[in-house]
Formats: sequence, C-alpha cells, structure tokens
Amino acid sequence: MTERRLLYEGKAKKVFLGDREDELFVEFKDDATAFNGQKRGQIAEKGVVNARISARLFTSLAAAGVANHFLEQVDDRTLKVRRLTMIPLEVVVRNRVAGSLQQRTGLAEGTILERPVVELYYKNDALGDPLLNDDHVQALRLAPPEVVERLKALGRRVNEVISAYFDARDLILVDFKLEFGWAQGELLLGDEISPDTCRLWDKASLTKMDKDRFRRDLGGVAEAYQEVLARVLR
Ligand code: TMP
Ligand code: ASP
Repeated sequence: MTERRLLYEGKAKKVFLGDREDELFVEFKDDATAFNGQKRGQIAEKGVVNARISARLFTSLAAAGVANHFLEQVDDRTLKVRRLTMIPLEVVVRNRVAGSLQQRTGLAEGTILERPVVELYYKNDALGDPLLNDDHVQALRLAPPEVVERLKALGRRVNEVISAYFDARDLILVDFKLEFGWAQGELLLGDEISPDTCRLWDKASLTKMDKDRFRRDLGGVAEAYQEVLARVLR
C-alpha cells in the first residue's frame, strides 16, 4: 500500500486523501463505540465485514439508481469513494419500532410501522446528535427545504431497495441511518451501510444481528456480523 495522508479519524473509520482530489480512501476500523462514545470496545474483523457489506449495498443501490459515493474496494477494509461535502444530518428510516423511537413513543419493540418513519438528526457530537424537525433544520440552516425533501425521499427509496435485499437473505431491516453529501453539484449517498448503522433481525427468530449486540452486551457480536456478511454475499 502506498503511503496515504490521513485526513480525518472518526470513531469507526479513518479517511485518507485519495489519488485524485475528488476521491478519498475510507478505512473501516474494528473499534466500536456506543452512546455517543461513552461505551468503547472492539469487534473482531468488524472493519473487514463493514467494508465488504457497504461495498455490496452501495453497488446494489447504484444499480437501482441511487447515486452514491462508492467507487471500488481497494483492500479488505478500504473503499475508494468520491469526496463529498457532507450535510451534517443523519437520515434515519424505520420500518419497526426499536431503539430511540421505542424510548420516545413507548411503543413495543418490533411494532411494525405502517408507513416507514423518516427522521433527521443533527450530526453534532457535542450535542449528542439530537433529533430535529424541519423547522429546526431551517433555523440551523443545515439544508434548504427542497433538499430536506430530497433527503427524505432518498431515505425512503434506499429503504425500498435494501429492505428487499435483506429480506431475500432472511433479514428484517428494522431501521438504519444514512448520510449524504455533495460532489460537483450532485447529491450523493455517502458514509457506510453496515450492521453498525442498521438494525437487522433474523426473519424467523427475530434474533438481533447488529450493533445492538454490542450496545446491550448481548454477546456473539463478531459472530453476528460474520453471519450478516455471509448472507449479504449470497
Ligand atoms: P436509534 O434508535 O438509536 O435512534 O438508531 C436508529 C438507527 O440509526 C439504528 O439503525 C442505528 C443507527 N445509528 C447510527 O448509525 N449511528 C448513531 O449514532 C445512532 C444513535 C444510531
Ligand atoms: N456510533 C454512535 C457512538 O459512538 C452511537 C451508536 O451507534 O450507538 O456514539
């Protein structure tokens, strides 16, 4: 591997300058954090698993017409991607109640949502990534209303594509988080799609197969990630 210049190191990924100005290398780490970094640990081979799963899902999404930053996988934990100017919003799409929606509503975990729920969170570690409504997004000038509408529609479209993808592999996509950015005037899906950023349950047993195993000390974390990878690749 040629020497790469580190641009930014996050909780789960390192971002390096690309061979071209409009490209980056994203290296997926085995480090895991939860609850805004308060809980820390490692998940064996998570970086390899998440790079591979993300590459596969971004490829399927591109084929389905969802433009995204993925260019190619360059080694077992590194993806070459287009460089984006990120929008500091997390777009969460939910098909069933879990996590913070369960806490916010009191609805039972696993309750099926008739229409998927789309939420926006402010990507801001100091504030703990708070939930925002559309007026908050405007007050903070994070994205104009028409872009917010496009982000929500893209979230719903990604949900259609990857829910079907996971369903064909006996996994229920409970919810997930997306991030978007701009490249040469184009709005592209960025970041990653992996068991770190999705809740995935086994269709038959409803066993949790994602980062909730780490968040909630359920055990079998690395094994669950490997099983999701095996199913995603089939
Ligand atoms: P939540 O129920 O905790 O709000 O999470 C919703 C979805 O977003 C879930 O699939 C996990 C994902 N997520 C992230 O990818 N990063 C985060 O920092 C958080 C809080 C959630
Ligand atoms: N990734 C987030 C953190 O470290 C939260 C999470 O995924 O639960 O804080």
